[in-house]
Amino acid sequence: MGNCCVVVVDFGGQYSHLISRRLRESRICSLLAEPVRLEQIIEEAEDGGLQVSGYILSGSPSSVDDGRRDLELASKILGYGLPVMGICYGHQLIASVLGGDVEGGCSEYGPTTVRVLKDDPVIGDEGEIEVWMSHSDSVIVEPSGFEVIARSSCSVAAMRSGDGRIYGVQWHPEVVHSMRGKELLMSFAEKVCNCGGWRPESMMDLAVKEVRRIVGDGVAVAAVSGGVDSTVAASIATKAIGERLKPLVIDTGLLREGEVKDVEGSLSAIGLDVEVFDISKEIFRRLKGVIDPEEKRRIIGEEYFRALESYALKVGACCIVQGTIYPDVIESGGRAGADRIKTHHNVAALPVDFKLALVEPLRWLYKDEVRSLAKQLDIPESITERQPFPGPGLAVRVMGEVTMEKVELLRRADRIVEEELRSTKEVEGLWQYFAVLLPVKSTGVKGDRRSYGQVVALRAVESVDAMTARPARLSVELLERIAARITSEVPGIVRVVYDVTSKPPATIEWE
Ligand code: XMP
Repeated sequence: MGNCCVVVVDFGGQYSHLISRRLRESRICSLLAEPVRLEQIIEEAEDGGLQVSGYILSGSPSSVDDGRRDLELASKILGYGLPVMGICYGHQLIASVLGGDVEGGCSEYGPTTVRVLKDDPVIGDEGEIEVWMSHSDSVIVEPSGFEVIARSSCSVAAMRSGDGRIYGVQWHPEVVHSMRGKELLMSFAEKVCNCGGWRPESMMDLAVKEVRRIVGDGVAVAAVSGGVDSTVAASIATKAIGERLKPLVIDTGLLREGEVKDVEGSLSAIGLDVEVFDISKEIFRRLKGVIDPEEKRRIIGEEYFRALESYALKVGACCIVQGTIYPDVIESGGRAGADRIKTHHNVAALPVDFKLALVEPLRWLYKDEVRSLAKQLDIPESITERQPFPGPGLAVRVMGEVTMEKVELLRRADRIVEEELRSTKEVEGLWQYFAVLLPVKSTGVKGDRRSYGQVVALRAVESVDAMTARPARLSVELLERIAARITSEVPGIVRVVYDVTSKPPATIEWE
């Protein structure tokens, strides 16, 4: 049971990643796969010793009428003979492929009551439940040989094949507003797919094999930042290819105070001897006059990859190992059908003519899962518990044009935020806490004189996986202390404000 996984086929639905997340929270290994990469992912999983024991077909913004390719894929998957569950669009695909009737004209959005008609090992006990729906097409008639397990006012809300191998549900069990949702997914995995008992640590073998498969007997460069993701990726790569891994820190000039030295020190303590490549001059030259956030990210990403490429060519490397994790992939719009929110530079800014292969052994994992791998690799807490730091660094925290002087001011303010938070218990459970330099000026008074200077915003959030976040409820005393120190110790800053916005609608970083 331990080395099996359920593959979630992602047709571009808004909540697809949540299906995978819920399964993992229930100790079920799940891999999310876009249709075009499905075969490759199955192959990689099997190479890594995982056995696919069932499929979940996700929701989608499409309609089955215009999804001929999706119908073909669903038909192929149903033909494998393994358990399959369709959710929303997936439910409609199953009905269409197997001869049921799917029609438009009945929409259900938001909380909806469905009636479970009989006790079922996956759907749950007979009776009414509140679930979350979001559909405009519906299954009106189930395929022959299927039994209707639940109905809503206008559709077949859940159905099951006679042999209990295939399920379809119209609602979204992955959304917290659906009663019994997580249990439903877990029951399908455990009782129908016979899959459970997974631990994130078991992804280690898969990751090691992935590195060996791509690097072969070549040399790879690992781009490390000293954060948990890149450190774990580099450690795994070292496990896989030993000294043929060359760890590199790229100093973009946009790192926090003292960070390059700290990173060198902490990585050398765990046996990774890193080289430092300074590209700060080039970065500041290219950022001159640029204010558009996506353009800033694009430029930094481009310079970063150019530097990696030239270093790799120097040491004869074929591949780059990166600590990209799953939320980076999702939020950069790396999935078919998903909207791009921000260009995370280690995912999407890859120059088109980039000559090296990318190895991203953590691209299926969430941060908390990467932290479990870090424990297994004996990576110290000083690294695993470091707060996440964005690839484009302080550039996305200096609003507007980025200059060396502004970055220097922000560094000083940021160090104060870090020092003050770390000196209290309030830091516990925080996902990130940092300063942002705003592009506005404001009036202040210092030593009986009017001063007209800049404004810093503080951002401190709680989050589990950065997909959603809420502002930390820091004490007013702490906020006041930080404000007092920043305005007195950082020249030119006259005002400090606190950001109390959740994600969504805001993002964690300001740009
Ligand atoms: P947002 O601002 O999108 O951030 O809510 C979510 C998490 O991702 C980090 N972040 C990045 N990480 N490259 C990265 O490696 C990036 O370009 C990037 N942008 C944001 C951010 O710090 C937060 O933890």
